[in-house]
Amino acid sequence: MPFARVNGTMLFYKEAGEGPLAVLIHGFPLDHSVWLDQLDGLAHVRRCVTLDLRGFGKSDPTTHRSLTMEMLADDVAGLIDALGAHGADVVGLSMGGYVALALWELRPTLVRSLTFVDTRAAADTPDGRAGRDAMIDRLLDRGRIGLADEMVQALLGPAPSIQVQARLRSMIEGTRYETMVAALLGMKDRADRSALLPRIDVPALVIGGEEDTLIPPEVMKAMARAIPGARTTIVPGAGHLPPIERPDAVNEALIELFEGRKVVWWR
Ligand code: MLT
Repeated sequence: MPFARVNGTMLFYKEAGEGPLAVLIHGFPLDHSVWLDQLDGLAHVRRCVTLDLRGFGKSDPTTHRSLTMEMLADDVAGLIDALGAHGADVVGLSMGGYVALALWELRPTLVRSLTFVDTRAAADTPDGRAGRDAMIDRLLDRGRIGLADEMVQALLGPAPSIQVQARLRSMIEGTRYETMVAALLGMKDRADRSALLPRIDVPALVIGGEEDTLIPPEVMKAMARAIPGARTTIVPGAGHLPPIERPDAVNEALIELFEGRKVVWWR
């Protein structure tokens, strides 16, 4: 199984396909396997790599109090370097989108295109920050199973298949407690990167789940409007996790971006 030593930690990654590199960054509290359908569906157009971020999945455990978006972005940059690539199409889901935007700020020359899936550029609001602390309390009180119960309801669209529910539960229940706490603190304190959006000068794609209640389509459309020339795809029937809920729609939008085909405007 492939691992790369990056910034003093071992990162697990999985790869499929050949050609220009695409790096797919998972959300919270997930792991690389949220992108398995994209590895299958995009391997004919890209060398697709999905990693377990520091502390997640099969990557080394972490003892950091907080996993900052900058630290996670620096790890992704280190992985791209370790893979011998000069740049990558970067795709981030939710927390992975926060990391992708931090990577764009940190090492823009590494980024060939940017795809943001159900994410945002703004920092947490005061209510959002309090919600992070409350989630940490619930996690430590009720455990991962309690969190999975809550998140399967909150993250998925109205009629999730049993396979999608099972995949999500496996990811949540497989994530270490200390990683969840550190990632929640990292997201709580993340910077507002809204001012970066108008300066993005690589091809960009914004994907939102039509039924996402956590980061609704309006937020994604506003994000797309702020990025010059960004494409937008709103995925019907999907909640917060289109890569597992509607992988076909996500793959099609990514292929269109990678091949420079057909633009769908939702402005
Ligand atoms: C995620 O899916 O990564 C999280 O919902 C992001 C967040 O909590 O802000």
